[in-house]
Amino acid sequence: MKEKETPSRRSFLKNITAATAAMAVAPGLMAAEKRNQAFEILKRGNSVSANNQINIALIGAGGQGAADTDVAVQIPGVKLVAVCDLYDGRLADAKKRWNADIFTTRVYKEILNRPDIDAVIIGTPDHWHQTISIDAMHAGKHVYCEKPMVHSILEGPAIIKAQQETGKVFQVGSQGVSSLGNEKAKELFRSGAIGQLNYAEGFWARRMPLEVWQYPIPADASPKTVDWETYISNTNKRPFDEKRFFRWRNYTDYGTGMAGDLFVHLFSSLHLVTGSYGPEKIYASGGLRFWNDGREVPDVLLGTFDYGQNAMHPAFNLSLRCNFVDGTSGTTYLRLVGSEGAMDITWDKVVLKRNKVFASDDPFYLEKLRKSGDTNPVRKKMMPPEEIVYEAEKGYLGGPYDHMNNFFTAIRNNGKVIEDATFGYRAAAPALLCNDSYYKNSPMFWDPEKMILKKV
Ligand SMILES: NC(=O)c1ccc[n+]([C@@H]2O[C@H](COP(=O)([O-])OP(=O)(O)OC[C@H]3O[C@@H](n4cnc5c(N)ncnc54)[C@H](O)[C@@H]3O)[C@@H](O)[C@H]2O)c1
Repeated sequence: MKEKETPSRRSFLKNITAATAAMAVAPGLMAAEKRNQAFEILKRGNSVSANNQINIALIGAGGQGAADTDVAVQIPGVKLVAVCDLYDGRLADAKKRWNADIFTTRVYKEILNRPDIDAVIIGTPDHWHQTISIDAMHAGKHVYCEKPMVHSILEGPAIIKAQQETGKVFQVGSQGVSSLGNEKAKELFRSGAIGQLNYAEGFWARRMPLEVWQYPIPADASPKTVDWETYISNTNKRPFDEKRFFRWRNYTDYGTGMAGDLFVHLFSSLHLVTGSYGPEKIYASGGLRFWNDGREVPDVLLGTFDYGQNAMHPAFNLSLRCNFVDGTSGTTYLRLVGSEGAMDITWDKVVLKRNKVFASDDPFYLEKLRKSGDTNPVRKKMMPPEEIVYEAEKGYLGGPYDHMNNFFTAIRNNGKVIEDATFGYRAAAPALLCNDSYYKNSPMFWDPEKMILKKV
């Protein structure tokens, strides 16, 4: 482990004075504070220079593609010029939403052939990410590709190769990794704030039909308005099925289940914070408990993951859970647990809980202290804060903005992104292997550094 990266308790204790200083400049916040709780505001300078215009196109203009594009066009100097989608209704919506003059098409290669387009956002279902990403980079476009980067574990290396060969900027869309919350958690982890990491857990709970992929199907959905043949051209051939098109997450030909949709966000953040490459052993269990709507994927999924020791962290265990039949709908968290504390991490907040000062009534311990010359071992101690809350300042534009801004800054400066193809593959792989483990009813073994599936 490189010395400067070693989580060190001393550096955390030194930095904690900064939190105390922040408390002093934010007295208003202190009124709302609980006893033994400190509070620090996380800030981001959002200055962006638009020194040259970047023309973008969106490929896959559904929910997330549209949300990404709304964020992208807020960034100074970024202009949307074209949109591609396989459903005509999305193309009509795009003209209404952004600009009636944008070029629209069902054929993504028409987008890639346009010399005026510098970068594309890929918001298609998962089974199209790899092909379009590779084609786009070879056509000279920078790529922002939604998560999970790939639909199957076998697809990752070709994207990494295309990125290396073309030198184009390639960012995967797990936007949390660029957030103030993840950034603060990384800093705290490195400073030793929770001591030695031994366990992490993450959870997603959902319940409402729209949350669990029962999306509305447009009244005009038909083989005339949807280019079904192109949609299934890289997977199993089937007759037109509107559910398979508009509720694609429920079917393994197109989606990657709960793990590919949600666990991948938790892997991305966990890897960012800890510097990890990923787990070595993956085991999943679960079942279809409620949503018997024809879906091929479970609605309750549990995954356990063994992370080996490496230069950045000790060995630890991870437990991830996702429940689509959960009455507490809306609950989600990522928690890192160490020998001296734990932290709950979100995109705009980190709650750090620390152990109290060690005080023991163990007679052996007291005797040891007396022998060491401590004549007053039962004297009360000063207590450190039990809980420190780090929260983004009001008006923070959030992880989605930071992540998109990171992409365009890398294009402008010929720089690096936070979530390149290698990072994206290392986050997607354990999620995809979770699905493989579930269907095979067997643990999967992975070499996270070399990114190779291990045979047992
Ligand atoms: N980062 C996040 O927080 C986040 C959130 C939601 C979704 N996503 C990801 O975004 C992607 C899209 O998800 P969504 O919820 O927006 O789905 P969606 O169904 O709302 O949108 C997908 C769009 O892609 C179009 N499409 C399908 N195949 C295409 C092709 N070959 N070429 C062009 N267009 C095509 C569809 O017609 C549809 O309009 C998925 O990979 C998903 O995992 C990421």
